[in-house]
Amino acid sequence: MHNPQLAANGQLTHLLTLEGLPAPVITHILDSATPFVSFGERDVKKVPLLRGKAVFNLFFENSTRTRTTFEIAAKRLSADVINLNIGASSTAKGESVLDTIDNLTAMDADIFVVRHSESGAAHLIASHLNATGRSHVHVVNAGDGRHQHPTQGLLDLYTIRHYKKAFTALSVAVVGDVLHSRVARSLISGLTTLGTPDVRVVGPQTLIPTAVESLGVRVCHDMREGVAGCDVVVMLRLQNERMKGALLPSTGEYFQYYGLTPDKLALAKPDAIVMHPGPMNRGVEIDSAVADGARAVILPQVTFGIAVRMAVMSLIAGNG
Ligand code: CP
Repeated sequence: MHNPQLAANGQLTHLLTLEGLPAPVITHILDSATPFVSFGERDVKKVPLLRGKAVFNLFFENSTRTRTTFEIAAKRLSADVINLNIGASSTAKGESVLDTIDNLTAMDADIFVVRHSESGAAHLIASHLNATGRSHVHVVNAGDGRHQHPTQGLLDLYTIRHYKKAFTALSVAVVGDVLHSRVARSLISGLTTLGTPDVRVVGPQTLIPTAVESLGVRVCHDMREGVAGCDVVVMLRLQNERMKGALLPSTGEYFQYYGLTPDKLALAKPDAIVMHPGPMNRGVEIDSAVADGARAVILPQVTFGIAVRMAVMSLIAGNG
């Protein structure tokens, strides 16, 4: 079946979702990121791979890590970077997303990096550009609603591969608010595509999507069972802003059952790593002793995110 993110020659043209992205494409992105990892230590951190290109950051929803690392990545690739301040833009006067895109395309945009609270927003923009003869303008999904966050998924995969080498013998536990998590959806897609044999989703029944097993994962409602023997524990934020109604008794009770504490982490493998996409809610889903502990790779995830986003933008612009 044709993947709308790939051109006929297999070239990545947009990055909208990890769902359905073939394993060789994912591996190629991860491999392409590796040379960029060391850029942060160089005196001159730039390469001219996107020189003359304009990257527009359109964040209709708040962000610290994703927006900033996309900006750093684009600047390291020598692109011109425009951060549209959505709050001060004509969106506040009622302009539609597609009218905004048309106007920014008239300013010669080459890449749109889009975060939006509506699932499907990045797909809508990419389809609009393709349907109106502007398929040379690329879209990267920086998180759409509860749907997908593909560059977060890729940086998570990069981090796991960095510390654990191969996916084919790993046990990975994804713990917490899976129901509202675009991060979990992207990561689970990537892990299963790359052959991870044991992916568990762990959380209370109210925060686990129905029929999630169809994604190739095992459900555990008991956290101790869920993290036992794992190589990787991925903690998720409770996304209160996406919750309709009371899905939890209290955050204190949630922490008691599903917060990652040193005693629960002791059930994972002795060399297990702890990941979190951020922002963290300390004392809700993760204890500070774990978040700041020796097994946490939460800040390296952020640093790898720059290299992964450099790779994605470089590849969709036609480099490799
Ligand atoms: N992980 C993540 O998407 O963080 P931000 O919301 O800060 O971008």
